[in-house]
Parts: sequence; C-alpha cells; structure tokens
Amino acid sequence: MLKLAPSILAADFARLGDEVATIDRAGADMVHIDVMDGVFVPNISIGIPVVQSLRKASSMVFDVHLMIQDPAKYIQAFAEAGADSITVHAEASGDLGEHIGMIRRAGKKVGICISPDTPVSALDGYIEKADMILLMGVQPGFGGQHYMPHVSDKIRELRGICDKIHPSCDIEVDGGITLDNVEDILDAGANVIVAGSSVFKGDVTAHVKAYKEIFAKYGR
Ligand code: DX5
Ligand code: ZN
Repeated sequence: MLKLAPSILAADFARLGDEVATIDRAGADMVHIDVMDGVFVPNISIGIPVVQSLRKASSMVFDVHLMIQDPAKYIQAFAEAGADSITVHAEASGDLGEHIGMIRRAGKKVGICISPDTPVSALDGYIEKADMILLMGVQPGFGGQHYMPHVSDKIRELRGICDKIHPSCDIEVDGGITLDNVEDILDAGANVIVAGSSVFKGDVTAHVKAYKEIFAKYGR
C-alpha cells in the first residue's frame, strides 16, 4: 500500500496539534517526525517532549526519524514518548544491530535510513531485520531542498533486493519530494512518501488530497 507521511518539520510549530489534526482529516497515513541533534546533522529540531505532547493529541501513526549521533541513548525514550516506528541512520555511531535490537525490544517498528551518499550495500545483512528502509532524497538536516536524482537508482536497486529477500519491507523516501516528482519516486519502487514543504506550505488539505489522488492511480 502506498502511504503518505507528511514531515512536521515544515509545519507551523505554534499550531502543531492543529497541523497534525489537519493532515489526519485530509487522509495522511502517518506523521513523520524529524529529530535532529545538532551533531549528526547541522540543525536542531524536535525532541522527546514534543512527541509526548503530540501523542496525547493524535492517534496517527508516528514515524520517528532519528538524525542523531548516538541513537542508543535515546531509542527507549522515544519509544516511551509515543513513537510507532523508529528509524536510525546506518551512519550514526554505535552498532546498527544493537540499535535494531533496542527498537524491537521496545515493541516498535524498525526503520533503517541511509543518506544520499551511502550505498545500498551498507544495508547488507540488515534489510531482513527491518520493517522499513528509509532512503534520503537530500542531505539530512533541512527541509525544502531539491531531490537528488541519483537516489531513484538506489530505490530501484533496493526494490530489487527487497523483492527477493524481504518483499514486505517498506521503502520510504524522504526529502525534496513534490507533487511533480513523486510519480518518478513511486515508479522506482518506493511505497512510503515523506513530504514536508510540499504538504505544509500553502493549502495543507489540498496537498494531502493531491498526493492521495496520485497514489490511487497506482492501485498498490
Ligand atoms: C530532512 C528531513 C526531511 C525533511 C523533508 O533532514 O529528514 O523529513 O523534513 O522535507 P521536504 O519535503 O521539505 O524536503
Ligand atoms: Zn525525515
């Protein structure tokens, strides 16, 4: 199933609860929550208290993307705060296998992310252990950047591997996605689309509906 996960990084933080309620009503499938620590990426965004507060305000699926240097320190806290899935970067410090185990033991879905310059081969041995692989379409750290076209080759490569070894694995793509390029990304084999600016800048309801109309054409 194709799913839309709007990234609240591009939302109006003064009205965050309303913004999430709006995407829920409009038919978005999950909320993508970008956590940045100012170390792994050169920006600071949302932390544990925000996830806790939003959890009380929304029953949507929370897709938490940890762009942090030391995930082992914080996985449990994000799990308790209300994450449904937790995605860690393969490039973060520490042991990826250990991070996966921590997320699993916390009872959450496991996501593994790679940045645009990291080859799909970095995921060897881990794909089978994940529920979702997240491919960054931009360098992590900021919303509103342009999608890097070479990432579509990585989506195709990963889709080929998943079809063979783990067909139920979600392939999520994050960064630079718009209503104009989303079909190329779906055609390459992605099934979960993260969109920040192209959902929250302007008419949020209309944008969510426009994405979902495109998804409906695919029948998958
Ligand atoms: C970038 C974040 C993305 C970003 C997407 O580090 O992981 O989720 O917010 O925003 P847009 O869709 O504006 O590129
Ligand atoms: Zn993200």
